[in-house]
Amino acid sequence: MADPVDTGSVCQTIKKLQGKVAVVTGGASGIGEATARKFALHGARAVVIADIQDDKGQNVAASIGPDRSTYIHCDVTDENQVKILIESTVKIYGRLDVMFSNAGIGSASKQTVMDFDLSNYDKLMAVNVRGMAVCVKHAAKAMVEGGVRGSIVCTASVAASVGGPFFTDYTMSKHAVLGLMRSASLQLGAYGIRVNCVSPGPVVTLHDVEACGVGVDEVGESAAGRVRDTRQLCLTGTGGDSITMLILQGGG
Ligand SMILES: NC(=O)c1ccc[n+]([C@@H]2O[C@H](COP(=O)([O-])OP(=O)(O)OC[C@H]3O[C@@H](n4cnc5c(N)ncnc54)[C@H](O)[C@@H]3O)[C@@H](O)[C@H]2O)c1
Repeated sequence: MADPVDTGSVCQTIKKLQGKVAVVTGGASGIGEATARKFALHGARAVVIADIQDDKGQNVAASIGPDRSTYIHCDVTDENQVKILIESTVKIYGRLDVMFSNAGIGSASKQTVMDFDLSNYDKLMAVNVRGMAVCVKHAAKAMVEGGVRGSIVCTASVAASVGGPFFTDYTMSKHAVLGLMRSASLQLGAYGIRVNCVSPGPVVTLHDVEACGVGVDEVGESAAGRVRDTRQLCLTGTGGDSITMLILQGGG
């Protein structure tokens, strides 16, 4: 089914980001890539792709268009790189309106609390929590300094609000993202800056699809089959380059 936002006529009426300058961390693939493309479709003047996958990030920026998108290498675990990312964005485009702080990684193993590997925990927290905080910090500073009543959106997860049988470190990290967002939104409201989270359920990205060796069209049905027994509702749609499953917690 065609995405209605992608049709030219509808798009003309809902260009919500007309003239805005946005940064997308983790923009080289998956949710970040799909979001960067959607931002461009909604009229963003500039979309800065920030990632550590240089080839992929450059390809995404080039395909959006060199006049409207730039790739900047940025490892969010390094505060100086995040600071340079934001400073470069403001230098090139004059301001920062939207920060989509999305870069994140999954658990290295399916661990319970009893077999926690703390070096893996440290690596995951460095990206998912420390990296997220540093991105919010520098985006907020740039918006306040520039007098921009901007928007900061962090990618959390359904794992931000419920515990799970495995992936303890990931669940902890996404709970922390909610705490960051709640504190930052209270503190930055005075400047007219909104801070929110999106909390996706499982999102099968093109990378996952390719790894499974199945076609994009097949994934909806196979995913639905997998989750049907667990009282989860699978809704498929081709938003950008990802296939989204919305989970109804508690079933129904
Ligand atoms: N896919 C899902 O099912 C799902 C569900 C809920 C939440 N999320 C969250 O969505 C976000 C995006 O995940 P995705 O599924 O699109 O995965 P993905 O692996 O396709 O994308 C993540 C991107 O982040 C980048 N990245 C990783 N470490 C980085 C670092 N240190 N600095 C900068 N960039 C870095 C990767 O290179 C990659 O391009 C993550 O925060 C993830 O936790 C994903």
